[in-house]
This record gives sequence, structure tokens and C-alpha cells, in this order.
Amino acid sequence: MAQGAVHYYDFILKESNFTRLCSTKSMLTVNDSFPGPVIRVQKGDTVYVNVQNEGEYGVTIHWHGVKQPRNPWYDGPENITQCPIPAGTNFTQEIIFSDEEGTLWWHAHSDWSRATVHGAIVISPANGTTYPFAQPDAEEVIVLGSWFTGDVMAIIDEALTTGGDPNISDAFTINGQPGDLYNCSSDSTYRLLVESGKTYLLRIVNAVMNEEMFFGIGEHNLTVVGMDGAYLKPINVEYIMITPGQTMDVLFTANQSPSYYYMAGSPFADTNAPFDNTTTTGIVQYSGNYTPPSSPSFPSLPAYNDKAAAENYTALLQSLASNEHPINVPLNITTSMYITVSVNQIDCNGSCAGPDGNRLAASLNNISFQTPTTDILEAYYQTLPNVFTKDFPDEPPYYFNFTGDVGNNTIFPSLGTKVRVIDYNEAVEIVFQGTNVGAAENHPMHLHGYSFYVLGFGSGNFNSTTDPLSYNLDDPPLVNTIGVPKNGWLTIRFIADNPGVWFMHCHLERHASWGMNTVLIVKNGTTDATSIRPRPGYMPPCSTS
Ligand code: C2O
Ligand code: CU
Repeated sequence: MAQGAVHYYDFILKESNFTRLCSTKSMLTVNDSFPGPVIRVQKGDTVYVNVQNEGEYGVTIHWHGVKQPRNPWYDGPENITQCPIPAGTNFTQEIIFSDEEGTLWWHAHSDWSRATVHGAIVISPANGTTYPFAQPDAEEVIVLGSWFTGDVMAIIDEALTTGGDPNISDAFTINGQPGDLYNCSSDSTYRLLVESGKTYLLRIVNAVMNEEMFFGIGEHNLTVVGMDGAYLKPINVEYIMITPGQTMDVLFTANQSPSYYYMAGSPFADTNAPFDNTTTTGIVQYSGNYTPPSSPSFPSLPAYNDKAAAENYTALLQSLASNEHPINVPLNITTSMYITVSVNQIDCNGSCAGPDGNRLAASLNNISFQTPTTDILEAYYQTLPNVFTKDFPDEPPYYFNFTGDVGNNTIFPSLGTKVRVIDYNEAVEIVFQGTNVGAAENHPMHLHGYSFYVLGFGSGNFNSTTDPLSYNLDDPPLVNTIGVPKNGWLTIRFIADNPGVWFMHCHLERHASWGMNTVLIVKNGTTDATSIRPRPGYMPPCSTS
């Protein structure tokens, strides 16, 4: 692998005032910006980010989709690979880029602080290489976000105290701005200035907290060419569906009459759970002399519950799989897991704000993950007792009709900090099984430390005889986050060649808060070059957090 360049960034975390929807609040951001600063690198570079916490509480920062080979120390999930960076201290994180190329992002990984603490990571081709498509005339980062008029940390704290649903967001944003359809917002609507005939590369990040999103541009087709830091076969579409955690690289050409056109994002939320059903807009504005339309033309986006529209889009994703960008799909699986993904309840004697006076919870294989107070990486590395157990199971505790009438089956999960230990270089397959327990919906599952191939998905209960016949072994997409269909299954594969402690969770923030998480610990290989790097001299302390 080519030796890359080294870059340095300073991230100052602090509270400052922001006004949206006619209301001002203090919130935590990096360098006073929402969304935060863009990290720009070329493939294979290394970045040192000095995170200086001038806020009021401990926070961690995660580099979403950056594999960090052998380097879990700087991955960031709170109490998984490190404890929070205490207020008033700093922590310099080393971010090692390897094969990622395209767009990724960074975000806080402590409670709900990521709502305001996030930004894009742009990874350009290495010197002497090019995009696998014609060089665009210009490029632009588009970050989709959530805006809460209230304090996000207070919202999740309250929900976890009462056991009920957290408040929904008040708006979605495009590059920090809600857009024309919200109160007090049309003066600051995000505008993308374009010139007729030119082609633009949009690097789209879904930093929304709890909703998958449809996104499109009025009267302009989109060509999706990459996702999660890997290239795709170009897909021509009118809209994309992007889950929280995903990033998509999208080309469009300014080939319509010079005018204003809306770009818009609206939720895909096929669920009974409460969600934000509003639409964020920006304006694609052609240069030149013309009379702007009184109302720019709007993209036609699917309805919020259009499951077929979402899944039809996801089914189009295929790896580029070219000579320059080859893929390597594991064929001989040595570790397989079948993991149910459920929203559950915990009994609290009728005193909680969830259904039937219960507390809302979520689980993988019916285990609701309990976050420890000492980070799992430290406990694993130093062999500390009583932090986690190694018994995360390879299948659900018992079988029932997961996607039909589930009755009272596993409404109540068990609780634990259970991890799955995997030998170095195992060929891993995981079949996720969405269930109809609680509120069934699409779950964007995310794995740290890896990208994985998505071999296939379908509706209903996974059939291990017939469903694998439909697997795409030729050009499955290589991603770090993928939506498991509501009441359906989805299969991923990867080679466990990155030793470390890697969080795996639903990227809908309320589900992660409720325990839809686990940890994969990938053991060291037999050499230093296949082992976790030595522990850095300083890691944020677990005691003062
Ligand atoms: Cu976007 Cu655990 O991460
Ligand atoms: Cu989920």
C-alpha cells in the first residue's frame, strides 16, 4: 500500500448559540460549525485530529467507515474503545486510511451528541489515479441532519428516564439549514450554484438521527457512483434512499433550463413509531440572467411508508468490481451467525412511559446491550474482569415466526454486555433477521472496523436452503451500513482481518440507545503486523467520566 501524506486538524468542541425555526439554543459543535469541518485526504493518508473538549461534558469522536487497521484505540465509540474525553482535556486521535475512497464522515459517539457534532470526510483518489468516471466539474458536500429545538442530550436523557419514546426532531437540514418549508427558514436555505452544462459530484452524508431519507433534485436525474467509501456501478435514478450512517456519491449534470430547482430530503419511516414527517429543501440555482420561478420545481419523492421504493433502490446497489477496483467476496464461510433485530420492552411494574407501562428497549438475538463503565477495549487488552462476557450467541435463543404474529415471544429481552470473539482471518457471514416484535421497521446496521459485502436481502423469515440461491456473489456492494428490511432478512460477509474491538449497532440513534448493539472482538493473528497496535500512552480515563 502506498505511503500516504499526513494531515493535522484541530477540533475544538464547545457550546455556542445557533438559531433555527425562530428559536435559539446553545449546542455543542466542532469549531463553531454545524455541520462541522470537512476532513479532506487522499486514499491511504493518515490524519491526526487533536480533539480539545471545551464543552461541559465528556464526549468521544468516531470516524465512521474508516477501518483503522489494527488501530481500535482511536475508533471512538464511548465505553467500547475508549472512555469519554473529559471536559477541559484534549485527546489526539490517529486516523489511518487504507482502502477507503469516496466519502465517509465523522461524528460524536456519546449518547445523542452526534446530532450536532458531525462532518464529512472526503477521500480523493491517490496521486496518479483517477475517479472511475469522468472528472466532475466541481464537487460539493451535502450533509443531511436533524434539528431539535430542544437540547438533544436532555431529550434522550428524559426518554431513558421515563422509558418512553424520545421526542422527534423538529426539522431535517441540508448543510445545517432546514429550508423553505419550515418557519423562519427561507432566508437561509442552502443554495448550490451551478453552471449550465457542468457536472457536479455531490458527496451526500446522512447524519440524521432516527430516520432514513429519500433525496432528489427536481427535474434532474442522479447517477450514484459510490457509497460508504467504495465505488458502485453507476446507477441512474430519480431519487436515492440513504440510511443514517450511509454516504453516497452522486453525479448530476445541470442540463435543464436555467432556473431554480429544489433538492429535497424526506423521511422513509415505515413504522408505527413516532418519526419526523417533514421535508428539508435546498435550491439548485443556475447562474445567468433569468427570472427565478415563483416556486422551484420539486423532486418527486416516494411516500414516507413506501417500503418498495426504498428496497427497490437498495436492490440496485452493485460494486464497481473493475480491474482497478476489484472485490473479493468470501466464499468459504468459517463463522456464521444468525442475528435477530428487535424492538422490545423491559418490565418496570407499569411505571414506565412505554407500551403497557413498560420501558422501551431493543436487542440483537434478544440481548439488550448494556454499555459498561470501563471500555471493552481496555478490559480486553488488560484482561480486566467483570466488564463484558464472551457469550453473545450465534443464533436467537429460540425460534418462532419472527416476521408474522409474534404473540408474546421475546417481548422481554435479557440484558448483558455480551461480545462475540472471532479468530483472526475467519470468513464471517451474518444473516440479520428483522422481527415483528414491538415496532417492526427497517434497521440500518453498522459495523465498525470493516466494510462488508451485502449478498442479498428479502422479506419474511430467512430460509437457509432457498434464500442463499439468490445471493449476489459477483458484484455485491461493499458498505459499512445497510438497512435490514422491515420484517425481512439481509446477509453480509467479510474477512475478519482487522484485529480489534468493533462495535456493531443499529444507526437509528434511539435503537442504539435502547441496546440494539453488540461488539465483535477480532483476535490478533500470529505476527505483530496482524495484531492490535500497542496501547497509546494516554487514553481518556474511565474514572472521571
Ligand atoms: Cu456512525 Cu457506531 O457509528
Ligand atoms: Cu433499528
